[in-house]
Amino acid sequence: MANSNGSTAAGKAPGYNGQAYPIMDHTFDVVVVGAGGAGLRATVGCSQAGLRTACISKVFPTRSHTVAAQGGISASLGNMHPDDWRWHMYDTVKGSDWLGDQDCIEYLCRNAPAAVYELEHWGVPFSRTEDGRIYQRPFGGMTMDFGKGQAQRTCAAADRTGHAILHTLYGQALRNDTEFFIEYFAIDLIMNEEGRCCGVVCIKMDDGTIHRFRSNLVILATGGYGRAYFSATSAHTCTGDGNAMALRAGVPLQDMEFVQFHPTGIYGSGCLITEGARGEGGYVTNASGERFMERYAPSAKDLASRDVVSRAMTIEIREGRGVGKNKDHIFLHLDHLDPAILHERLPGISESARIFAGVDVTKEPIPILPTVHYNMGGIATNYHGEVLTKKNGDPDSVVPGLMALGEAACVSVHGANRLGSNSLIDLVVFGRAAGLRAAQLVTAGEKQPDLPKDSADLALSRLDKFRYAKGGTPTAQLRHKMQMTMQNNCAVFRTGEILEEGSKLIHEVWSGVPDISITDRSLIWNSDLIETMEFDNLIIQAVVTMDSAVARTESRGAHAREDYPDRDDTNWMKHTLAWIDESKKDVTLDFRPVHTYTMTNEIQYIEPKARVY
Ligand code: FUM
Repeated sequence: MANSNGSTAAGKAPGYNGQAYPIMDHTFDVVVVGAGGAGLRATVGCSQAGLRTACISKVFPTRSHTVAAQGGISASLGNMHPDDWRWHMYDTVKGSDWLGDQDCIEYLCRNAPAAVYELEHWGVPFSRTEDGRIYQRPFGGMTMDFGKGQAQRTCAAADRTGHAILHTLYGQALRNDTEFFIEYFAIDLIMNEEGRCCGVVCIKMDDGTIHRFRSNLVILATGGYGRAYFSATSAHTCTGDGNAMALRAGVPLQDMEFVQFHPTGIYGSGCLITEGARGEGGYVTNASGERFMERYAPSAKDLASRDVVSRAMTIEIREGRGVGKNKDHIFLHLDHLDPAILHERLPGISESARIFAGVDVTKEPIPILPTVHYNMGGIATNYHGEVLTKKNGDPDSVVPGLMALGEAACVSVHGANRLGSNSLIDLVVFGRAAGLRAAQLVTAGEKQPDLPKDSADLALSRLDKFRYAKGGTPTAQLRHKMQMTMQNNCAVFRTGEILEEGSKLIHEVWSGVPDISITDRSLIWNSDLIETMEFDNLIIQAVVTMDSAVARTESRGAHAREDYPDRDDTNWMKHTLAWIDESKKDVTLDFRPVHTYTMTNEIQYIEPKARVY
């Protein structure tokens, strides 16, 4: 019987430790999991296409991690100087160290300006130039005319661009009658016998009830898994729940070895100081006050790409030129900038520096350290957002009924290293693309695929496995071991030996999962149970990250192997795919070729060359 939500109070899923969970059923054309920039943009598109769309989020939508994005969103608007999407594409391909799929990068850069103007028209309060255009600032790796000089391509709303975008998109979603399911934690996907995704099972965390969402299309926009590491700019909610659900559903994750360290996390807290700070003229120094980036990247200097700056900082510290009493960090200077500029363009980080480092940025440098910031890897998709698997050896075969977007996805437009401000544009360009594709794939109100028998069983048995866990190891202990292992053994620089040790340690953590003990078994926010399920999501992503890193015997982008210091285009122009077998606690790797072609003949394939800044 349908209630006002289009949902039915269904039967019980029997037999879990003698318990039975009453299940509330909901039926939608499309279910979007995640309400950050990508999830909301897709939600708006699906709703506008007349599809009955649910958006499920484990936090209130405007608290999704997009809210923390600071410096801006890239698009070749040409407001500060002539610009061209092809120049943006060139920079993105080079930034990706030639691992990005060039057809997808073309799609991103070509569609970026329209996506930004759409945001402007929807109400994003961008900062303005004197003549009223959207203000654009310099960001790392962004150049003019195929590498000839620094570009100003990053559209900014001061240093609170993500906040401005997220609030605007939430307003648009409400305006388009999306139905939100807020503070629902997704446990697992429902897959049928043919390998089609038919929905998702969730816990409503304010009352602990179980909800089964049935739909023709599920879109995962659940963000990255930064919290697999000890120090990250990511929120505590960034546990990559969608990636983990995909892995458990037999879908591989792609290029997980590529983890981005942002050069300017605040020392100690990991809180982000935007790259826009260097875009506005900030620079980094070592213990002798030297602007050392001039040695590592003579042209771009402090605005080299993030992997380059993070490695340079790490070398300075390793070689004894770090600052502070333990010589274990670096300084970021903004104290030479006009306080009026800091107030107008960087108010947020001025406040963060005061709160988290006790620093007045107009007078003192900020202590900083490279900090985990972004996952280039994730669920492999094409540029429509459809999830790719490698069924029968076909690298372009799709998983019916399933899409992925944003940091959860690996399209792959960022390849081995993402350029700053290419994340926000990825969210809205591919969020829009997913809405367009959904409108082609799904007809409003059409019959739903048959659910497998006992469709909630897998999810609920996973829930019960942890709810009634009575082992001897607290989740917090395992989580700490995982985070320290990732921090120490899968860092800015890697060697085969360190990674092999990391693999052994992280597999030990994974093997410890059956011995978990929990105390607070309630199905509500912040309980031991929810944190344990988040940890269980993190650990499988940590394991595939480490094992993918062991396998890639070259250096490319963020994956810097000291034992293989060069990029190896002969053997490694390919994406890593990783599957897990949970019962055997095993990882399987395979590969798919990088797309070495473009979408149209308006730009030719950009041939690999040495990557210098
Ligand atoms: O530094 C920043 O503002 C971060 C931007 C990004 O990761 O794209």
